[in-house]
Amino acid sequence: MRVLITGGAGFIGSNFVRWFLENRPGDSVTVLDKLTYAGRMENLEGLPADRLRFVKGDIADADAVKDATEECDGVVNLAAESQVDRSSENPGEISQTDGFGTYVLLERARTRGPRYLQVSTDEVYGSIDEGSFTETSPLDPSSPYSASKAGGDLVVSAFHHTYGMEALICRASNNYGPYQYPEKLIPLTVLNALHGDPIPVYGDGMQVRNWLYVTDHCSGIDAALRKGEPGQVYNIGGPDEMPNIEVVRTILRLTDRDESLIEYVKDRPGHDLRYSLSSAKLAKSLGWEAEVGFEEGIRRTVDWYRDNEAWWEPVRSGDYREYYERQYGRALG
Ligand code: NAD
Ligand code: TYD
Repeated sequence: MRVLITGGAGFIGSNFVRWFLENRPGDSVTVLDKLTYAGRMENLEGLPADRLRFVKGDIADADAVKDATEECDGVVNLAAESQVDRSSENPGEISQTDGFGTYVLLERARTRGPRYLQVSTDEVYGSIDEGSFTETSPLDPSSPYSASKAGGDLVVSAFHHTYGMEALICRASNNYGPYQYPEKLIPLTVLNALHGDPIPVYGDGMQVRNWLYVTDHCSGIDAALRKGEPGQVYNIGGPDEMPNIEVVRTILRLTDRDESLIEYVKDRPGHDLRYSLSSAKLAKSLGWEAEVGFEEGIRRTVDWYRDNEAWWEPVRSGDYREYYERQYGRALG
């Protein structure tokens, strides 16, 4: 099998490429990635060149997609603009990639015939006060990011129903682990803690997220790609839920910092209070389960950032500084 992995130079994409090449020794990968600020060739270093082809391009560009899908019999679409705060700054670009780009990929997959897996997010369901979302929960997105992802999901379902395509969707909860760009809560907090910089916590820090270690997401994607039923949705939720402030406190403990670094800042507009996913369907029908709990996963993640300064130093000293100042109204230390 040769699988096209779009967004394969990003956080989850590069982890999935690595996981796939390690766990599926007979298979090969083509990566299609536009290399935005979040996509980096460094993320794919050290992988076997004879089983990995890289195409630089946009999923919304039909010619690039045609080139990249040559000889592929599966598509996993991870390419996206993926940050909620940036999506509020620039909703047009987000819907171009997450909505229209999904359509361009599907159109190519339809005429060529490979199996298609859309990697989506729990954020399409919106926020939930109690209990957990299942695959039949209504879509109720609240940010330009989640609305664009929901739009992409609806096009996938429509292509399955209208053309009988072997297309399916998985929706994961918040991921964390190596190679995550430090605009997201966990890597931002780890790097600021290692530097002794203030850690910005939105509002009161009591918003709850359902944390999934990235390799558990990878095994869920692989299960859905190989054994999932076309037309179906599969949730991939992490084993642990907790308020943001608890995540921050855990990282401070692991980096030997005290709580004086915590800085409560203005809340995100329209901030979703709680995400929670039930993965019962994936567990029951495809035998998936998460293997890495939060205590273990966050320890591994902190260790990885501590040991990989060469990976994050260029990010932290580049354009990210401008983004940080715009977003938090203060310079990085
Ligand atoms: P990321 O921002 O780290 O990576 C996105 C990748 O897509 C980058 O390599 C970027 O260069 C590439 N890309 C962006 N626009 C593109 C385009 N138009 N054409 C081709 N490539 C393009 O994101 P991530 O956190 O790895 O998320 C990957 C996918 O997983 C996204 O679809 C996201 O919605 C989904 N997801 C993420 C999480 C999470 O917690 N990070 C949770 C659930 C689902
Ligand atoms: P984030 O990592 O951006 O993921 P998402 O918005 O997709 O859930 O944020 C996770 C949670 O952390 C969310 O409730 C927002 C909060 N957060 C902060 O409190 N401070 C920050 O600097 C960031 C980036 C996020």
